[in-house]
Amino acid sequence: MAKLPKDLLGLRELNAEQIQLILDTATACKDIFSRDLKKVPTLRGKTVVTLFFEPSTRTRTSFEIAGKWMSADLVNLTVSSSSVAKGESFVDTARTLEAMGVDLIIIRHSLGGTPRLLADSVAAHVINAGDGAHEHPTQGLLDLYSIREKKGRIAGLNVVIVGDILHSRVAKSNIYGLTKLGAKVTVVAPPTLIPKGIGEFGVTIETDLDKALRDADVVNILRIQLERQTKAYFPTLREYSKLFGVNLSRLRQARPDLLVMHPGPANLGVEISEEVSVHDQSVITEQVTNGVAVRMALLYLLTGGGNKDEILH
Ligand code: CP
Repeated sequence: MAKLPKDLLGLRELNAEQIQLILDTATACKDIFSRDLKKVPTLRGKTVVTLFFEPSTRTRTSFEIAGKWMSADLVNLTVSSSSVAKGESFVDTARTLEAMGVDLIIIRHSLGGTPRLLADSVAAHVINAGDGAHEHPTQGLLDLYSIREKKGRIAGLNVVIVGDILHSRVAKSNIYGLTKLGAKVTVVAPPTLIPKGIGEFGVTIETDLDKALRDADVVNILRIQLERQTKAYFPTLREYSKLFGVNLSRLRQARPDLLVMHPGPANLGVEISEEVSVHDQSVITEQVTNGVAVRMALLYLLTGGGNKDEILH
C-alpha cells in the first residue's frame, strides 16, 4: 500500500500511487459535508500550527477548518506579531514551536525551498502551503480531485493551463500531478511568461489560446502574479486579457463540457470574465469546498492515519 513521506513539499516528489491515496482519502473526508455535526475526534491530541509569511484566504482558512473539524488543536501564528518580526529566523521559530509539542507545521513563504529547509530542521511534519513560484501542492491536489470528481478520470484528458506560468506555483504542482496521472497538459501564455525547460515535464507549449481550447476537456485559468513580476512581461493588462483572457465568446467556441477552473484569487475582467467565473461549467466554488476535504486527508495521512474508513467515526 502507498505511504506518504514525512512531509508534503511538492507533487514533483510524489508518485501516482501516493497521489491516488490522497485523492481517495479526500473522497472519504468529503462525506463530512453532508453531516449536520461536522466534528470528528480523529486528530484529538494532535497539534497543528499554521505559519504564513504571505497573505491567504482559501489555503489558511481551509486548513483551519479541516483541523478543527477533525478535533486537532490548531494555532495560527501571525508573523507580524511573532518573534519573527524581531529578527528570529523561521527555523528557530519552528524549533521553538516543536519544543512545545507541535506535530505538524503548515508554511507559506515567498521564497521557494523554504518548506524543504524547515522540514530538514524539525521532526514535526511539514506541509508546503505555497512557496514562491516553486509549488503549491495542496492546490494541485484539490485541482486533481475536482477534475476527477467532475470528469470521472484524469488519464487521457486534455488540460489547458493558461496564465502566468512563469511565476505560478499552482501551474507547477498541476503539471507534476496531472502528467503523473496520465493527463495531456498544454500550457498557454505569452512567450515571456513560459519558464525555460518546462517542456521537459511532458507538456505542450502554446501561445494561441483559441487553438488550445478547441480540444480541451479542462481549462485551469491562473492570475497574473504582479507581486512576483520584476519587469514588464506584456504590454498592458488589456492586451493580455484580449489574447489570454477566458470570456464568454471563447467559452462558446470550446467543447460544451469544458470544465472551467481557477484556484483564486481571481482578477475578474483580466484572466477570466465575471460571466465565465459563475457559468454552469465553472467549478471554482467546488474547488474551494474540495480544498477542505483534501486538506483533511493530508492532516490525517501525514500524522499517521491509514484507514480512510475510520476518518469520520
Ligand atoms: N489558491 C490559493 O492559494 O488561495 P489563497 O492565496 O487565498 O490561499
